[in-house]
Amino acid sequence: MPSFPPVIFLLLVFIPSVLSAPVTSLTNDYYQETCPDFSKIVREVVTTTQGPQGRTAAGILRLFFHDCFLEGCDASVLIAKDALNKSERDDEINHSLTEETFEIVTRIKTALEKSCPGVVSCADILAQSTHEAVTMIGGPSYEVKLGRKDGCESKARKVGENLPLPNHTVHEMMSLFQKKGFTLKEMVALSGAHTIGIAHCKDFICRVTGPRPDLDIDAEYAEVLKSQCKDYTVVNETRGSFFDPVTPDKFDNMYYKNLENGRGLLASDNILFKDNSTRPFVELYANNQTVFFEDFARAMEKLGMVGVKVDKNGDVRLRCDNLNKPKEAILRV
Ligand code: HEM
Repeated sequence: MPSFPPVIFLLLVFIPSVLSAPVTSLTNDYYQETCPDFSKIVREVVTTTQGPQGRTAAGILRLFFHDCFLEGCDASVLIAKDALNKSERDDEINHSLTEETFEIVTRIKTALEKSCPGVVSCADILAQSTHEAVTMIGGPSYEVKLGRKDGCESKARKVGENLPLPNHTVHEMMSLFQKKGFTLKEMVALSGAHTIGIAHCKDFICRVTGPRPDLDIDAEYAEVLKSQCKDYTVVNETRGSFFDPVTPDKFDNMYYKNLENGRGLLASDNILFKDNSTRPFVELYANNQTVFFEDFARAMEKLGMVGVKVDKNGDVRLRCDNLNKPKEAILRV
């Protein structure tokens, strides 16, 4: 069973990284003068588009995570490809980010551009809408600081080296999280996001079928997954399963309880319980939702600060899926 040597474990758990030093120019009331209805508008759009079983919330939360882990929380994940550039969205791992989620962001941006043109960044829209989405399905509230600027680069080739994969070990996942300034405990807390949403069969099918099925997985649960993926082929990839089949529409600590019962969907979920270094945190969160909510909230605040661009390091894009034309960018300096 892989685990970290004790000294490294302590360092990973307790030493906060300089990479996550707070960006002091972000503030809670950044749009108070320039766009006073900012949060209200974001909340209205997210509420009215809340799909069944937490699907909307799950889509937004994952989009935010994938944005922040690549080039920082700068909305680079929203940029569409063009003839000269394959953007982050074009990398295979991001193909499963849902079209509906991108449309929600567009709807919010359109409403904001009507109310306060050229003021609110797409990066702040992502940060605020994630907060609305999480709280709307029962998750914890946390502070969302504002004033991020949008990035001007989005490269598909950078995705793979920055995002965790379902077959990663704890060590591999941790090296990515550590680069962004997170401790081991924070990584386990953030993984609690898998209390909502789905994964497609391709991400877990080999755990229940094939020559080497995963023996950690609860037998009854394995049968359920097999039947959910029975029509799955590499051509028809649409089949999938809820991360948390018990309370799929609720943000709670059921994810961790499922892990304890051999009902983690991805190998990367299961391994958090299997590995000695992360199991204590899984047990802590499974036993105490209040502590999970508290830690998840603080980790989300930190996630929202990763690689943030401020002032002239970024831009306020007029369309979230497109870079500003040079003239528009100049006007905004
Ligand atoms: C720790 C390592 C992680 C790995 C290996 C991982 C991997 C994955 C995979 C493979 C999927 C399924 C994609 C699909 O088939 O559609 C998924 C979904 C999801 N992930 Fe993660 N993830 C990780 C951490 C996180 C974190 C930190 C967050 C947010 C803070 C997050 C939020 C989500 C959500 C909400 C979904 C469901 C999306 C939906 O239903 O549309 N994940 N993740």
